[in-house]
Amino acid sequence: NKDTIILGIESSCDETAAGVVKNGKEVLSNVIYSQIEVHKKYGGVVPEIASRKHIEVISTVVVEALEKAKVTLDEVDAIAATYGPGLVGALLVGLSYGKALAYAKNKPFIGVNHIEGHIAANYLGSEFAPPFVCLVASGGHSHIVFVKDYGEYEVMGQTMDDAAGEAFDKVARALGLGYPGGPVIERAAKLGNMEAIEFPKSFMEEGNFDFSFSGLKTAVLNYLNRQKQRGEDVNIYDVAASFQKNVVDVLAKKLIDAAKVKKIDKISIAGGVASNSLLRERLKEEADAKGIKIHYPNKIYCTDNGAMIAAAAYYDFIKGKTSGLDLNAIPYLKI
Ligand code: KG4
Ligand code: ZN
Repeated sequence: NKDTIILGIESSCDETAAGVVKNGKEVLSNVIYSQIEVHKKYGGVVPEIASRKHIEVISTVVVEALEKAKVTLDEVDAIAATYGPGLVGALLVGLSYGKALAYAKNKPFIGVNHIEGHIAANYLGSEFAPPFVCLVASGGHSHIVFVKDYGEYEVMGQTMDDAAGEAFDKVARALGLGYPGGPVIERAAKLGNMEAIEFPKSFMEEGNFDFSFSGLKTAVLNYLNRQKQRGEDVNIYDVAASFQKNVVDVLAKKLIDAAKVKKIDKISIAGGVASNSLLRERLKEEADAKGIKIHYPNKIYCTDNGAMIAAAAYYDFIKGKTSGLDLNAIPYLKI
């Protein structure tokens, strides 16, 4: 009954990250090198630059994660890395690095699905466990997933076009608020009136757990253009607040309804958008009113990180599920 220590590596987008996790729950270290400053001036992630930056810092990040955890590679039981979904050139850096380490040290290697990683962030530093219904909302994904057990998922709905975080990023850009959109919109929204402008919502019929945020984004852009043509002022704080409320309304309703449909009294959220305070408050209110228990991962585990990858890998490891060293990156990997 010895402890299991896993090194998790993440490089699917613009964070180069590594974390060391004990028994799938206890975070010994979680080192994140964010490339946000590099991509900011382009208003979004530039894939080629992301890959190059990952290559520059991956060694330092992994070494630092091991040092902070006070473990050597020899003491690690398995090495895990994200193999999809994500930017292919970015994924390849962490994946190849992880596979090379596993080969050199003769350790088991585990390829992890990034979305499963986000869901597993819920287990870090917590006793929270399946079954539950989870909303995964990030820059690349918006999913409602019924987590039946560790590693057993049923996707109840997903976005048909833009992800929730992507909508935040695109609206923030249109408002001239910078990148990434989530945090800047959240800040701007505090100064605005969320009832000021009514933007449209998609797929709101009962039992539909899919999302579409592209129509909302277009509605915001049309509103901004119309005001400009009319020579009328735009209150960007009202736009930010009204937009944020719209997204939160949709995400909260669908997650609560999905729990009802599955007759499950536990819900959780994951992914970058899960750090949104209005979403957290709203879900807490609605869950309390309906007798549903809600769990939030710590905000530092919501955005991309290595600890969540190690946590997801743990449940594969204890089932004896490992990956071959021929595992390739899969940019459109599904959960
Ligand atoms: O999970 P993540 O770090 O990377 C992906 O896997 O995509 O998520 C990043 C996304 C970005 O689109 C960012 O704008 C959004 O999460 N985000 C937020 C907040 N913080 C980050 N969206 C809404 N509110 C926030 N506070
Ligand atoms: Zn992510």
